[in-house]
Amino acid sequence: MKLYYITAEGHREMHIEVVADNAALGRVAADRILRSYDDGRLQVLGVATGGTPASTYRELAARSAGRLHDIRLAALDEYVGLPANHPGSYTTFVRQHIAEPLGIAPGQVGVPRAEAADLAAAAAGFEQQLRDNGGVDLQILGIGSNGHIGFNEPGSAADSRTRAVTLAERTRQDNARFFDSVDDVPREALTQGIGTILEARSILLLASGARKAQALARAVEQPPTADCPASWLQRHPDVLVVADEAAAAALSRRPLAARGA
Ligand code: GLP
Repeated sequence: MKLYYITAEGHREMHIEVVADNAALGRVAADRILRSYDDGRLQVLGVATGGTPASTYRELAARSAGRLHDIRLAALDEYVGLPANHPGSYTTFVRQHIAEPLGIAPGQVGVPRAEAADLAAAAAGFEQQLRDNGGVDLQILGIGSNGHIGFNEPGSAADSRTRAVTLAERTRQDNARFFDSVDDVPREALTQGIGTILEARSILLLASGARKAQALARAVEQPPTADCPASWLQRHPDVLVVADEAAAAALSRRPLAARGA
């Protein structure tokens, strides 16, 4: 296990921990989350969906011994056009992979209400709920192969808020594996904005697999740009990136400064 500091020109350092594989990523991420809880700094956990964080949630369920039951969960995004109980919805993902295994009651789980007829009102309501709960203490993020975070596709501004967005074709292709076919993948979503995400007190970005290597290198090594929304994370003062070897393969600057082993 290695920890590198990588600095993109003119912006803050990002802390990057490179681990062997997705299982190791899950252990390191769960360590970070449990440490935060045990230090009394975790009341609201922001949760990402997708394949990457699944090992983290399994580790948490196995190691938390029920002690996370009192935290709140805030999801990043939800597909527009799926009933909340659809197997491919993020409401279902958060319930099955996170809330139920951790013993967190449905009333403590917030997911953008993408079923609503008025999506702008649902987006504003979600932002209000985040504020009412005191904001997100620790936000878990994955990264899309096109550099998206949440469903903030390329072009997303640094100050964007929760809103309805059109999904990139590449995202629909990438996520087709969670549906019967790519035609079943919704075309729109309701997502926290970049500005919303940047208000989390602390951020844990997880990247796994060769498919993410280019996007991750761009996110941490190039100056921030809307072309790679994850690069806006360089503006946040407390980001830990945990990447497996395959996802870290395109990083050109490592090691700038190795810390620990
Ligand atoms: C979706 C989600 C993102 C997630 C991304 C990567 O598009 N909206 O929050 O980070 O998928 O998912 P995976 O980890 O399955 O590659």
